[in-house]
Amino acid sequence: MRAIKIKEGIYWVGAIDWGVRNFHGYLTHRGTTYNSYLIIDEKITLIDTVKANFYEEMLGRIKSVIDPSKINYIVSNHAEMDHSGSLPIFKETYRDINIIASPNGEKNLKKHYNSDWNLKVVNTGDSLRIGKRTLQFVLMPMVHWPDSMATYIGEEKLLLPNDAFGQHIASSERFDNQFARDIVCEEAAKYYANIVLPFSGQVNNVLDYISKLKIEMIAPSHGIIWHSYLDTIIGLYKKWANNATDEKAIVIYDSMWGSTEIIAKVICNVFECNGIPSCLMGLKVNHISDIMTQILTAKYICVGSSTLNNNLLPTVSSFLTYMNGLAPKNRVGLAFGSYGWSGEAVRKIEEVMNNCGFKMM
Ligand code: FEO
Repeated sequence: MRAIKIKEGIYWVGAIDWGVRNFHGYLTHRGTTYNSYLIIDEKITLIDTVKANFYEEMLGRIKSVIDPSKINYIVSNHAEMDHSGSLPIFKETYRDINIIASPNGEKNLKKHYNSDWNLKVVNTGDSLRIGKRTLQFVLMPMVHWPDSMATYIGEEKLLLPNDAFGQHIASSERFDNQFARDIVCEEAAKYYANIVLPFSGQVNNVLDYISKLKIEMIAPSHGIIWHSYLDTIIGLYKKWANNATDEKAIVIYDSMWGSTEIIAKVICNVFECNGIPSCLMGLKVNHISDIMTQILTAKYICVGSSTLNNNLLPTVSSFLTYMNGLAPKNRVGLAFGSYGWSGEAVRKIEEVMNNCGFKMM
């Protein structure tokens, strides 16, 4: 295992999860990474750790640079277990390490690991001198947990925002210019649509805050480090956070005997005939997390279901529950369907779309 230098004295020491294909319900076709960053300064600092079962991989990478017992601080930007899972064994092995977290981070870490760790708690505006560098902390509540925060190093123009700007890509390449831009941006879009979208208001606050910082590198906690495509990803985040959409239609459906599918195809065709690109997504062959990636920038959302008994097909019901939780805004909705029972499906789809605030066609 080796560390990868991302700047002079700063190393990526994370882990690559090549095999993960489901990340709390989100299909991760390309696997993922858990990114951890080691800063060599007077006080040696680790930014985040990795999922518990990847501890040895992270430790191996750290050992390729320094003896882990020399680490003074671990900044826990986020308590979710993919980033904090290695903290208990780290703390047990290297007892003198001080953990730094946000106020909610402290609460979550102590409850989750049933620990009495004496953490250093930081808020937005707090900073910590570690030698020639100063760590500045920015709370990012709900991006995407209440405890989330970013660490900024002004001397390096480096932002470490944890989940924000992440993508689920397993790769031994670390930088955006080593990858096809379309793939990195598509995975960033999928990540935003499935994880960050409900908290777009808070993302806008973060974007405002970071617009005042000098940034030449964004190193998130999953996937590729942004360096060459910084303007691209910041522009995309602004678009997504404002729920800005394109003239594009997504037609999502499931069908029992093919009637709802016929309607779905007709709807797609009508959009095309009106010069609006459309995408037909049957729920038997498309995962809901991939559908959300398409919905991220689509203005028109059409959902169809056959009626089963007095309800929706379970696949449609599951999709609507998922979409409702992710709360896309500023969309135009259309519900459609067919029935052999009493035809409640369309009304039930409309209820969810109304609840999402969609303007109905
Ligand atoms: Fe990558 Fe919210 O954890």
